Amino acid sequence: MSRIGIFGAGYAGLVTGACFAELGHTVSIRDIVPEKIDALAAGCVPHFEPNLGELVERNRERLSFTLDAGEALEGCDFAFICVDTPPTYSGDADLSRVWTVIEELKPLEGRPVLVMKSTVPVGTGEKVRSALDARGLESWGYASNPEFLAEGTAIKDFLEPDRVVIGAFEESDAAAVEELHGGIEAPVVRTDVASAEMIKLASNAFLPTRISFINEIANVCELVGADVEAVARGVGLDSRIGTRYLRPGIGYGGSCFPKDISFLKLLAGNSGYHFQLLNAVIEVNELQKRRVVTKLQKHLGNLRGKSIALLGLAFKAGTDDMRDAPSLVIASRLLAEGAEVRTWDPVADARGLLRSARQCDTISEAVTGADAAVIVTEWDELRSLASPETRAAMRNPLIIDGRNLLDPAEAKAAGFVYEGIGRAASPLDALPETPEREPETSPARKE
Ligand code: UGA
Repeated sequence: MSRIGIFGAGYAGLVTGACFAELGHTVSIRDIVPEKIDALAAGCVPHFEPNLGELVERNRERLSFTLDAGEALEGCDFAFICVDTPPTYSGDADLSRVWTVIEELKPLEGRPVLVMKSTVPVGTGEKVRSALDARGLESWGYASNPEFLAEGTAIKDFLEPDRVVIGAFEESDAAAVEELHGGIEAPVVRTDVASAEMIKLASNAFLPTRISFINEIANVCELVGADVEAVARGVGLDSRIGTRYLRPGIGYGGSCFPKDISFLKLLAGNSGYHFQLLNAVIEVNELQKRRVVTKLQKHLGNLRGKSIALLGLAFKAGTDDMRDAPSLVIASRLLAEGAEVRTWDPVADARGLLRSARQCDTISEAVTGADAAVIVTEWDELRSLASPETRAAMRNPLIIDGRNLLDPAEAKAAGFVYEGIGRAASPLDALPETPEREPETSPARKE
């Protein structure tokens, strides 16, 4: 079993550390924020992630938290960089925290391996290698081992991943990182460092590309009388395509997709390549968030003075994360139109972010007297929204379902005017109005 120092007690660092401890390794997690380390040492996990608290607790013996880089590095075989790399004003990744960690490294016995988990531009590994050599740290190995942890399923994603990607300059370093993952059943992709870095960016650009694609299909479905839910299923069951990440909605958000797709676009641009497809993916996503407002206007006309209940704030269910949450754009647009916005979320708090909106403690409080209810996040609590109680409480029984969470027929049967995404012209709506087909007089011509 190995000793591991983890730099950064953020989301990725904590999950990585707790999971390696679960696999039997001894892990020291270092962060520079005293309150965070104190809280972790006292058994409080500052992230809303299912089972993470239990995992940390269960592995207390092998898991420690420190402010001291030297303590985290003591006798370690691996040092993982798990710090965040937020965008700078130019949109490039800010690697200052990565470089700070590298400055703290010192020569150790044997061949410790520095492992990059943070999402970094392609070419970072080369620069880190040169910096290590320039600082007399030639004995440190280096590997890129990107993370593919989705919030809400991060522990499962770590312990039962689709693949483990390891890019290294030396075969022996790659082999050491692979061995560290012993106990995890998954294909291992061993490659060069630049390719490993690119695998992360390409994955986080391809998934939003699928989402923007299905969102555009949904928008066309609304115009031509098709139901995107049936279309997504029918398309996705083609094993070459697959059903995942084909859920239409209000656009993707979170701390990763929006940032990483821009990183890749800029990386390509800085290298002299105009990545046209990504421009479209990003633009479609921005417009998708705003379509909710257009749908409300279609039903309510001018939104000035109208009361809109935004149900769900987090960028997806299962997290309290508000980073790049579509709810922020939708709420801000509604406020700009003069609407009164009430919000509800079971865990996310947007009081500081949306000062002009009223955050309610219950769904019932949010919908009482509302002119419309918008499902923004797919929380389970909202599955029973189309109830007689909600109908009686609302001023106007309009539901805009930004996640296609409800059954349109049930919502309508319960007396609501219902509109989802890409389902407005579902067969139920469209059939009575569909005009009779003209009888064909001549055989169709094939162009
Ligand atoms: C994402 C990736 O899924 C992880 O593999 C990756 O490791 C992580 O980013 C990261 O780079 O750290 P995450 O941001 O937690 O994870 O969120 P996802 O579950 O992938 O969802 C992202 C957004 O896409 C959400 O707003 C979600 O609602 C939306 N989405 C997802 C859709 O609109 N439709 C879908 O079919 C799937």
